[in-house]
Amino acid sequence: MKKDFLWWRDGIIYQIYPRSFADSNNDGIGDLPGITNKLDYLQDLGIDAIWLSPIYPSPDVDFGYDVADYTGIDPKFGTMADFETLVKEAKKRDIHIVLDLVLNHTSDQHPWFIESKKTEDNPYHNWYLWLYPKSDGEPPNNWTAIFGGSAWEFDPKLGQYYYHMFYKEQPDLNWRNSDVRQAMLDVFRFWLGKGVDGFRLDVFNAYFKDAAFRDNPPKWGIRAFDRQEHIHDVSQPEMIPLLGEIRAILDEHPGGYAVGETFLANPSQTAAYCGENKLHAAFNFDFAENRWHPKRFLDSAEKWYGALEPGAWPNNFLSNHDKVRAASRYCFGEDDRRAKVALAMLLTLKGTPFIYYGEEIALRDIPIRKKSEVLDPIGKTFWPFFKGRDGCRAPMQWTSGRNAGFSDAKPWLPVHKDYVERNVVNQAAQADSVLMFFKRLVALRKSEPALQRGDFKALTPDPHTYLAFERSLAADRLVVLLNFSSREVQAALPEGKWQAIFGRDGEFENSLDLAPYQVVILKQK
Ligand code: GLC
Ligand code: CA
Repeated sequence: MKKDFLWWRDGIIYQIYPRSFADSNNDGIGDLPGITNKLDYLQDLGIDAIWLSPIYPSPDVDFGYDVADYTGIDPKFGTMADFETLVKEAKKRDIHIVLDLVLNHTSDQHPWFIESKKTEDNPYHNWYLWLYPKSDGEPPNNWTAIFGGSAWEFDPKLGQYYYHMFYKEQPDLNWRNSDVRQAMLDVFRFWLGKGVDGFRLDVFNAYFKDAAFRDNPPKWGIRAFDRQEHIHDVSQPEMIPLLGEIRAILDEHPGGYAVGETFLANPSQTAAYCGENKLHAAFNFDFAENRWHPKRFLDSAEKWYGALEPGAWPNNFLSNHDKVRAASRYCFGEDDRRAKVALAMLLTLKGTPFIYYGEEIALRDIPIRKKSEVLDPIGKTFWPFFKGRDGCRAPMQWTSGRNAGFSDAKPWLPVHKDYVERNVVNQAAQADSVLMFFKRLVALRKSEPALQRGDFKALTPDPHTYLAFERSLAADRLVVLLNFSSREVQAALPEGKWQAIFGRDGEFENSLDLAPYQVVILKQK
């Protein structure tokens, strides 16, 4: 590996939803030893880091995003010793660990909250946001919860309301309390001490709310949550100095990294949280939410690059545990051609690629047909308008054997029925599979630093069929051609002689014909 290789800038980050990756003890739920058993697979894929969705003790009202202990491991995932083994084995393979920190809220089963609701003078009372009703008994203000209803839950014993942006079982912490702030900064230190190198910060820009709890102004929208402008319940200015404190802790750890999930923020607001004394990176949802059109992706990518200050590095993702998978959104049936183009785009655009487990075999969402099958709480609340997020959280498909090789027991969510064909073993044996395509491209990316950290220049300002861009670093110039269309197209090349290094053989000048959905990469001779 090159000496100046910086894992979170030059590498590839792979998100694992631990419940669904690999089940080592056959209870139907994926676990840490399951992940450790698959490290050779991950190393062979060529990824550089894994981001684990939450693994802490949790009552699972929101499947791990309701944390009951920030420095423990949920027994369903294993033990702290299992975690330590995972870190050690990952390190041997140059794989970094990124943990998901959910610090905006805890579980209502967290000992802090249990104390907090005992009495008003309990030392933990002020760790959460407790307020008295208005004189008419109504909630303190008009804030709504994104998971439905008022954001205020009344506790008859205390005669006070507590605030929750998500479920009522996810009370928001009071970040203005310096004890909370210190406890949270200690969580970073604890995991860094365990050998973790990075963190994904769940809805970090929601930590602070308006100090005076002013009402949000109304606006037009369909859901109650969308009928107000969220100016007082998220994105408060106090977040910037806090990010500086977090960054200082990370900077003491070589290669320390944080990527933020901004909540209800547009790309320029999101970008403002990244850079010196702030986060290393944040997710650009605008990019992930595009429909299948090369111009849409190019415009979001360029807007994002333009919004980031020097010292912040972009990243790109299309799928995660909250969204319908890219392959389900973009592909027709079992045709994987668009999935390949999408992966090639992630691996070649400027920015760290985030790959969601199974994306390398173009895993599809499982269909959610009946309300009674839904496990995700937001699917239950908003059915049938929104069916929840179970679809993208189904088990990884390893083999054509029982339960796709995920578990011998009935998995917590059903396996997609295409697993007999779509699985790792099958795809590893087929040269033209998504998996083999992905691995070839990852290998090329590793050998061409220009694809990792090179400058970016679009060659097609107004692309309608194919996307063409240049990545250049020092004397290296590469051209990437991605045909988004089902038609053959002729791509114009910049001046010079170009050697095909991916997707084709031969040398080209002036132009090159791209087959439907073809991906070609060229290097200047
Ligand atoms: C983030 C997570 C999501 C979770 C929510 C509340 O958006 O990605 O899964 O439900 O925060 O923690
Ligand atoms: Ca298990």
